Amino acid sequence: MELVVTGLGYVGLVTAVCMAERGNTVVCVDVDDQKIEALKRCEATIFEKNLACLLRKNHEKMRFTTDFADAYRNATMVMICVGTPERSDGSADLSYVRRAAEQIAEHVESDCIVIVKSTTPIGTNDKIEQAVRARQKNNVRIDVVSNPEFLAQGTAVDNTLNASRIVLGVENERAKQAVLELYRDFERPVVLTSRRSAEMIKYASNNFLAMKISFMNEIANLCEKIDADIEDIAAGMGFDERIGKAFLNAGIGYGGSCFPKDTKALYWLSNFHDRELKTVKAAIEVNERQKLKLIKKAKKYVSSFEDICIAVLGLTFKPDTDDIRDAPSLANLPILLEEGARLRVYDPVGEKNFKKFFAESDALRYCKTIDETLSGAQLCFIFTQWEEIKSYDARNFPAKMRRAIILDGRNCFSLDSMKNIPVIYESIGRKTVDGLSARGNSKHLMDGKGRDALDNCI
Ligand code: UGA
Repeated sequence: MELVVTGLGYVGLVTAVCMAERGNTVVCVDVDDQKIEALKRCEATIFEKNLACLLRKNHEKMRFTTDFADAYRNATMVMICVGTPERSDGSADLSYVRRAAEQIAEHVESDCIVIVKSTTPIGTNDKIEQAVRARQKNNVRIDVVSNPEFLAQGTAVDNTLNASRIVLGVENERAKQAVLELYRDFERPVVLTSRRSAEMIKYASNNFLAMKISFMNEIANLCEKIDADIEDIAAGMGFDERIGKAFLNAGIGYGGSCFPKDTKALYWLSNFHDRELKTVKAAIEVNERQKLKLIKKAKKYVSSFEDICIAVLGLTFKPDTDDIRDAPSLANLPILLEEGARLRVYDPVGEKNFKKFFAESDALRYCKTIDETLSGAQLCFIFTQWEEIKSYDARNFPAKMRRAIILDGRNCFSLDSMKNIPVIYESIGRKTVDGLSARGNSKHLMDGKGRDALDNCI
């Protein structure tokens, strides 16, 4: 089949490449001409596992253009994959979806199915269909289908080709047959439902996962007080198939382009309909607090961060992506800088995106290796569980750092690996390993100038 994909962000580009991989011809449209030129040169514009090689493999089946009028003219199937960012009140900004739909309406000259993959609040696709039909220039039939995606960054290609389910919100037989045909070769479970239910499946799924994470983070915080271990709790819970093993990892909160935005949008919608989702509200609040948990832990060791040399490992919102949107690092670094810390930061791929917000300066130095980052540091914050960080030899922390106090927001290291070495290791929902005091070295309190406070007292 031939289809048009409009909006070449994470969802759009991955979808386009996977649709080509499944044998379709795909016209890819975006307003960003630099992106289109890069894709014409076969350069993947996002960092995503297996994407570059599938793009190369299927490049001949794909055409890239900024000329949406030309792309829509003969289209019989258009997938809308543009963003629905958060507005200041928490609701979803639907202007990009609306604009794409209007452009399709103005230019399409054949009967056409518009498939909305963008995450849209419940009822949006009904309105889009009405608007498209009201604006269409030619006497053709346009049907709108809701087809939310469930791809996670880092595994997006696999999540698309081997989707857990394909959700199709359709309102008539013609649209239903067309999208069933489009997905026939995927051979994945299909959930056929109404457009509104399809939209709700997407929001409910993301919100449920966000709540699961916030719940585990609260349990982890309690574990720290009652001397229980969150990793054991998660393992013990996960054996129950009704709970499942996934998304039980406590940490410094969820980030990314989806959970923060989708929880706020659903909460906004629930209030709009006078059905406040209190569970979602709690998940959002817990997450906001959790993001700053390492700073609170650090304050046990420093009275202020002024002149403290801090190593920061991991900047992205999760591993295997260069995306820093709503990453906990973004909430923490301004506080550390504001208090006068001297930061040395490292991320295997996130540096370029991070530099758009935080330029290199005397107070913030980008490093190329973990060793270089740790060198001379008095505190280490870990924000992302990159494999490279998890497999780092813990014995190097005391060798590289001036004072090895490690605050790990992603539980990258086993407690055993930290035993018997001169470090203080604090993680989330687990015991603190204190190999400094244990060695009679209790001088880990530092004053605001980065000097050891106890040194000064003596
Ligand atoms: C999420 C969903 O997982 C996808 O199914 C969905 O399609 C996507 O949003 C979307 O709406 O487009 P994504 O944001 O890429 O995908 O990443 P996740 O792997 O879900 O992680 C989100 C955040 O939760 C990360 O910050 C991660 O570190 C955190 N997380 C995840 C935890 O803190 N604990 C966990 O156990 C799992």
